[in-house]
Amino acid sequence: MTNKIMTKHIYNTIQEEIAALKKERKAIILAHNYQVGEIQDIADFTGDSLRLAQEATKTDAEVILFSGVHFMAETASILCPDKKVIVPDIEAGCSLADMIRPEDIRRWKAGHPDGIVVCYVNTSAAVKAESDYCCTSSNAVEVVKSISANREILFVPDFFLGTYVKQQTGRENIELWKGYCPTHVMIQSSEIEKIRTEHPKAEFLMHPECGCLTKSMHLADRIMSTEGMIRYVKESRAEEFIIATETGILHRMQKDNPKKNFIPASPQAVCHYMKMNTLEKIVQSLENLEYEVKVPKELADRARKPIERMLTIV
Ligand code: 13P
Repeated sequence: MTNKIMTKHIYNTIQEEIAALKKERKAIILAHNYQVGEIQDIADFTGDSLRLAQEATKTDAEVILFSGVHFMAETASILCPDKKVIVPDIEAGCSLADMIRPEDIRRWKAGHPDGIVVCYVNTSAAVKAESDYCCTSSNAVEVVKSISANREILFVPDFFLGTYVKQQTGRENIELWKGYCPTHVMIQSSEIEKIRTEHPKAEFLMHPECGCLTKSMHLADRIMSTEGMIRYVKESRAEEFIIATETGILHRMQKDNPKKNFIPASPQAVCHYMKMNTLEKIVQSLENLEYEVKVPKELADRARKPIERMLTIV
């Protein structure tokens, strides 16, 4: 595969240019639900972390352009070691994933030799490699339920998702790491109470990473992953929804359901890492086949095990 595109054409729109480059590169574009609307619109698949990881394993494309954040591209590289995985901006990281290091897990395991480590997908490949099970927000409860009740669990790194899992499973033997997503933690109970009073008929959907989860879990009509929310709003008879997660998700909700009304629980809940990707950067990325995210084989082989365990459970 040559690294440079030899002939340069003139296109009417950047969307046409991306379509042509995609064909030339035998590439697919996977975009997370938090990407800006115009990226969601040109993506082959838009979805949550689980769906995108699954789509990565199904494709016969040679190149996977992952428009999301770094750990998502790493997951695709772990699951598809023979594919070229590229990202539009190598600086698009995840603050939550950065809150836990492999040495933190090794230390815990040294003190809990029979303990089980469950890591949220928002972790680096190096952290996954030290973990027993991986999970996403859509299956964390199911994954933990599949683990023998007498085994102690260390759940990393999201404290709020871990709190939700503890509540749903009724298990006391789960130790929670105190990590959090700075975007979701901004969604606070005081805002929720105010919006619910202003929109009494609206259904209230909450992502389990939200800061309001500890105080206001009981107020949510549903607690779900981003893809779960996308599906739910289509099926529900309600006409109005309060959405507690990163605001990028509202684009697809509004597009799929033009007659329904979607209210962000917090308009400030914008992940600046997710918004670093742009159409212009996608063009450059496909033209130059950069920036490649490649997890080294030895690490990928270890990090794949907890992900595969999760995929067999769900
Ligand atoms: P989802 O798996 O629900 O898309 O969540 C991923 C994420 O990064 C939330 O911050």
